[in-house]
Amino acid sequence: MRERIFFSIFLTAAFAAAVIALAAHFEMPIWAVAGIGIVFTAASAFVLATVISRKMLAETENMRKVLTEQQNELKKEHEAQDKMRREFTANVSHELKTPLTSISGFAEIIQNGLVKQEDISRFAGNIYDETQRLITLVGDIMKLSQLDEDAVPAQKEQIDLYESCSAVISQLKSTADKRGVRFTLEGEHVSIIGVEQIIDEIIYNLCDNAIKYNKENGWITVRVYSGESGNVLSVSDTGIGIPPEDTEHIFQRFYRVNKSHSKEIGGTGLGLSIVKHGAAYHNADIKVESTLGVGTRISVIFPQAQESAGS
Ligand SMILES: Nc1ncnc2c1ncn2[C@@H]1O[C@H](COP(=O)(O)OP(=O)(O)OP(=O)(O)O)[C@@H](O)[C@H]1O
Ligand SMILES: [Mg+2]
Repeated sequence: MRERIFFSIFLTAAFAAAVIALAAHFEMPIWAVAGIGIVFTAASAFVLATVISRKMLAETENMRKVLTEQQNELKKEHEAQDKMRREFTANVSHELKTPLTSISGFAEIIQNGLVKQEDISRFAGNIYDETQRLITLVGDIMKLSQLDEDAVPAQKEQIDLYESCSAVISQLKSTADKRGVRFTLEGEHVSIIGVEQIIDEIIYNLCDNAIKYNKENGWITVRVYSGESGNVLSVSDTGIGIPPEDTEHIFQRFYRVNKSHSKEIGGTGLGLSIVKHGAAYHNADIKVESTLGVGTRISVIFPQAQESAGS
């Protein structure tokens, strides 16, 4: 573009010089020289204006294309978010409705005097279990929405990842014992900057899954170490494993590999979504390695420099 303008100016100047030289040679009157000069200046200005306006038109067209592409991408993103929101609402409603229907059913039977005295305690137990499911579900939804909104109430602080794992393992020990599953904790005291409540949630959900999807008398190994890629927390189990085609979906809200099986052992499919959001909040990566029938290892890799966590 710039070359073209210089070339046009150069041509005009050369032509004007030639005209002036010719005019001087033929002793033309000054008004004729001035007239020819004006005509050539006007002509070159016109040519320049045409070149510039064409270039501007082309650039505007390019910008329009880029803007249209960006608008289309934004529209697609909004549509995907809308779809996710609709699915989330439908799933939440379904998950809330199921225990509520059971509770209402049990209560109605008791109210109508259809339950024998000796069965009342069992019915009350069922109501209690369903209520606990509801409390867990509502709690998980609240945690997710806090992470979604970046509205985590607690402050970031220095956390000893090894100590946090030790505390969560103690909390889950009796549940593991009931299934004959044993924990080992390996590694070193690694310090990260984070929100303790979220870190505990991550560890809890990974360990809870390692118990639930383990085999009878299986093992869980929790490891904490400082690796080349960052500070790593990994939870390995000797359980049922995850089919390769499901691996990319397990972090989606309400996704369960085997819905009927998961129903028997509880769970709503929100645990790993909390892990995913919690890891993202700490700028951590997640790695899943699993072999069907052999076991699963899920690693959370926290960056060494944690200053930007949650920003
Ligand atoms: N360690 C694991 N081994 C085998 N399958 C797993 C493991 N962890 C998760 N999964 C599969 O991924 C699914 C999603 O896990 P997630 O923790 O999100 O939900 P959940 O355990 O079913 O319910 P919740 O955690 O809400 O109680 C599980 O239902 C299970 O099918
Ligand atoms: Mg879970």
